Amino acid sequence: MSTVAIAPLAESLSAFLNNHDFSAIAVIADNHTAKFCYPDLKPLLPKHTLVRIKAGEEQKHIATCELIWDAFTRSGFDRYALVLNLGGGVIGDMGGFCAATYKRGIAFAQLPTTLLAQVDASVGGKLGIDFNGLKNHIGVFQQPNAVFIDPSFLGTLPERELRSGFAEVIKHCLIADTAMWDTIRVRDLDEQDWPALVAHSVAVKQRVVAQDPTEKGLRKILNFGHTLGHAVETYYLNMPRKRLLHGEAIAVGMVAEAFMAFQKDMIDQTLLTQIEDYLFSVYGNARLSEADIEPILKLTKQDKKNRDNQVLMSLIDGSGSCTFDVPVTMAEMRRGLLFYSGLSR
Ligand code: GLY
Repeated sequence: MSTVAIAPLAESLSAFLNNHDFSAIAVIADNHTAKFCYPDLKPLLPKHTLVRIKAGEEQKHIATCELIWDAFTRSGFDRYALVLNLGGGVIGDMGGFCAATYKRGIAFAQLPTTLLAQVDASVGGKLGIDFNGLKNHIGVFQQPNAVFIDPSFLGTLPERELRSGFAEVIKHCLIADTAMWDTIRVRDLDEQDWPALVAHSVAVKQRVVAQDPTEKGLRKILNFGHTLGHAVETYYLNMPRKRLLHGEAIAVGMVAEAFMAFQKDMIDQTLLTQIEDYLFSVYGNARLSEADIEPILKLTKQDKKNRDNQVLMSLIDGSGSCTFDVPVTMAEMRRGLLFYSGLSR
């Protein structure tokens, strides 16, 4: 497992660089992190190449990888170079993928700048890009050489981004820590203790990933809310006016999938109501219409956890507990989405 340091970059990254001898360094940033975060990083680095790409999920495809590989090649990078991915999930997943495949793999470290990336994407070594409108369809598992989480970057985030990342914090509590769920669910977004929650989420995720790094089994519990959440996110990907951030879509998925767990007697009414009330209070209602539901369901057929055309879901089976590989039907998922959208009540 990679080392995850939660500390100012001036301490953690500087110590790492002093202990290694890289032949060259590249920083991959998008136009936001190049403006708001790179100025803090630049003075800590020796001579390096800045690879700047446009921000946004729509950049997470093979053509952007070609630009990145081209920058490595033109800078003369050999196998002893280091890539620093400065950004959110898109930069971490895609920059890591480019590093893991360049000359069959060079060193890379994640420097996550969003809450979402700090509590989820940067930890665990899932790397990849979108393909033909499908999220993270092409990719590899490769652990980063290190993850450097600088809490000060959260100060650069718009509130909507913070709220999106919070969905993965909520997920970690629901699947693994009922006491932490009871702590967060009585607080608004602006009352949360972010440094403690980042450390908590990283610890939960590392514990799971250490037991199952390539998602053969247990790691699938980290996908609670993601079968329907990913489908909702993908469905809205090409609709600029209705587009949801990752965590906003996962919040939809968690409510719908909690209802499915309730229908299967895996959780009680009290927990379902807690989840429904809290998630609607934080995220509002994404307002799925009846016409949205069938195309969203169709997208679940592409879920990476499926086997033999059977959708296999990770469902909570109590507060702070989750199980995986639960076969579910289209009718059950439809009822979950109808419950979310209020169409069945
Ligand atoms: N985001 C879930 C995982 O990394 O496995």
